[in-house]
Amino acid sequence: MVIPVDLGSRSYRIVVESGALDTVGARLAELGVGKHTALVSDAAILRLYGKTVARSLESAGFAVATVEVPEGEPAKTLAVAARCWDALLAARLDRTSTVLALGGGAVGDVAGFVAATYMRGVNVVQLPTTVLAQVDASIGGKTAIDHPAAKNLIGAFHQPRLVLVDPAVVRSLPEREFRSGLAEIVKHGIVLDADYFAEVERDAAPLCARDLPVVERIIGGSCRLKAGVVARDERESELRHVLNYGHTIGHALESVTGYTRFAHGEAVALGIVAEARLALRLGVASEETVLRQERLLAAVGLPVRASGLDASAILAAITRDKKARDGRVPFVLAPKIGAFQLTYDVDPDAIRAALRELATEAC
Ligand SMILES: NC(=O)c1ccc[n+]([C@@H]2O[C@H](COP(=O)([O-])OP(=O)(O)OC[C@H]3O[C@@H](n4cnc5c(N)ncnc54)[C@H](O)[C@@H]3O)[C@@H](O)[C@H]2O)c1
Ligand SMILES: [Zn+2]
Repeated sequence: MVIPVDLGSRSYRIVVESGALDTVGARLAELGVGKHTALVSDAAILRLYGKTVARSLESAGFAVATVEVPEGEPAKTLAVAARCWDALLAARLDRTSTVLALGGGAVGDVAGFVAATYMRGVNVVQLPTTVLAQVDASIGGKTAIDHPAAKNLIGAFHQPRLVLVDPAVVRSLPEREFRSGLAEIVKHGIVLDADYFAEVERDAAPLCARDLPVVERIIGGSCRLKAGVVARDERESELRHVLNYGHTIGHALESVTGYTRFAHGEAVALGIVAEARLALRLGVASEETVLRQERLLAAVGLPVRASGLDASAILAAITRDKKARDGRVPFVLAPKIGAFQLTYDVDPDAIRAALRELATEAC
C-alpha cells in the first residue's frame, strides 16, 4: 500500500509493505539524493534489522555510516543529538545527504531532530519499527528531544522524504510494547473512521496474534488516517488536535505516575475511557458509544480500569499540558464512533467524576 501525503513541495509517500526494509536503497535512489547516508538506530534494533537496511543501501550505491543511540527515551537528549551531529560531520554528510531513522518513536524523534538541524536541514527517511512509530510517530514531521522540565519541549517540524513501514518487523516486539501501540490504532478508529473501527473490532483476535496480512492491513489503514489529518493540518492549528484523543488525560496519567507505571498506550487507553465517560457526562455521547470503545480496548489487551489514581494531581497535570493555550485545555470528545468535536473549558468536577469511573468495576 502506498499512501501519498500531500503537503505541496514537502509531499512524501508512506509505503506499507512486508519486506519494505529490503527496498530502502532502491527507493532512496529514486529520490535523487546524495550518496552519503547515516543510519541512526539503537543496538537492539541494529542487531535485528541493521544488516538488511545497510545491505539494501550499499547495493544501491550509498555510503552508510551507522550511528548508534541509546535505547528508548534516553536517546532524546541534547548530548545524544550532539554526538549524532559529530558522527554526521565525520562521515562527511552534506546538504544532499540523508539520515535514516530505524527504530521506534524515540529513534525517529532524535534522528528527525538531528536531520532538521544539521546544516539547517538534511533529508530524513523514517523506517519505523514499533506499532506506535509506524502508525503515529513517523508520520507528520514532528521531531523532538526532551528537556529536563518536560518531554518533547525542544524540537522542530521537519517532514520526512519517505516513510517505509515494514509491518513484519512488529513481530519481534515484546508483547506489552506491541499492545501499547494498538491504542493509537483504536484512537484513529474512534475519532476518524467508523468503518475502520469496525474492521479493528472484527479483526481484534488475528491482530493480537500478529497475523501478518491482518497486521499489514490494519497498520496501513491507520497510516492512511493519520496522513489524512497531517495533510489537512501540517502545523497543528486545530484539526490535528483530534489525534490527541485520549491523550489529554493519558499524558496526565503518565506524568503523575512518573512515566513508570503505565506504558504510553496503556495510559492512552485509560485516557480514552475517561474522556469517553466525560463525553457521556457532558451529554455529548451515548452509553453504547462509550461501551464500544471500552470493549475494543479490552479486546486488544489494553487496560480500561485502574485504581489508586490521584484525581487532584491528574487535574493539575492536565492544566500544565503543553497543548493548553492560556490555561484553556482543549478536550477532544467523540460524540459517536468515527466523529469528534473540540471542547474547551470543561468543568473540573466533570473531569473528576470521569476519573473516578476508572476505579469502578469494568463492564
Ligand atoms: N513525533 C511524533 O509525532 C511522536 C508521536 C508519538 C510518540 N512519539 C515519541 O515516540 C516515543 C515512543 O516510541 P515507541 O513507543 O516506539 O518506543 P521507543 O522508541 O522508546 O522503543 C521502545 C523499545 O522497543 C525496541 N524496539 C523497537 N522496535 C523493535 C522491534 N521491531 N523488535 C524488537 N524491539 C524493538 C527499542 O529497542 C526500544 O527498546 C516517545 O519518545 C514519544 O515522545 C513521537
Ligand atoms: Zn500517543
